[in-house]
Amino acid sequence: MHNILVLNGPNLNLLGTRQPEVYGRETLAMVEQRCVEHGHSIGLSVRCEQSNHEGALLDALHGARGVYAGVILNAGAYTHTSIALMDAIFSIELPVVEVHLSNIHAREDFRHRSYLSRAALGQICGFGAQGYIMALDALRAHLDEDNAG
Ligand code: DQA
Repeated sequence: MHNILVLNGPNLNLLGTRQPEVYGRETLAMVEQRCVEHGHSIGLSVRCEQSNHEGALLDALHGARGVYAGVILNAGAYTHTSIALMDAIFSIELPVVEVHLSNIHAREDFRHRSYLSRAALGQICGFGAQGYIMALDALRAHLDEDNAG
């Protein structure tokens, strides 16, 4: 079983009550539970972390090296501001799938730019919590391709 880290950033601890018309009514605990269960069904052991602090997210990414085979990252608003998180993704040399619940490209201009996309394997946005499940499937396929190659 590959270990996968699902890492959520600022304000995502408020899921379920935070602007539910944008982010849905599922709580973070519910989303994480779905990730663990779906991961298990496709042979991935999922661990979930959340922090509101950029430095803690950096530490979590650094710590993922050698422990996890891949990372699913919703960095919240740091997506649009954090060169440090982009550099961390480049540095750890792990496949990172960037996830956003909302379609960031259909929202305010300042959300259109993601620094993380430069370093990520790919980006999934606009599908709500289902995006995390899609990201797990994408990582599974990516890891299978890597093993085959
Ligand atoms: C988000 C989109 C970001 O622009 C926003 O700052 C978030 C959540 C999303 O999941 O849609 O906090 O990453």
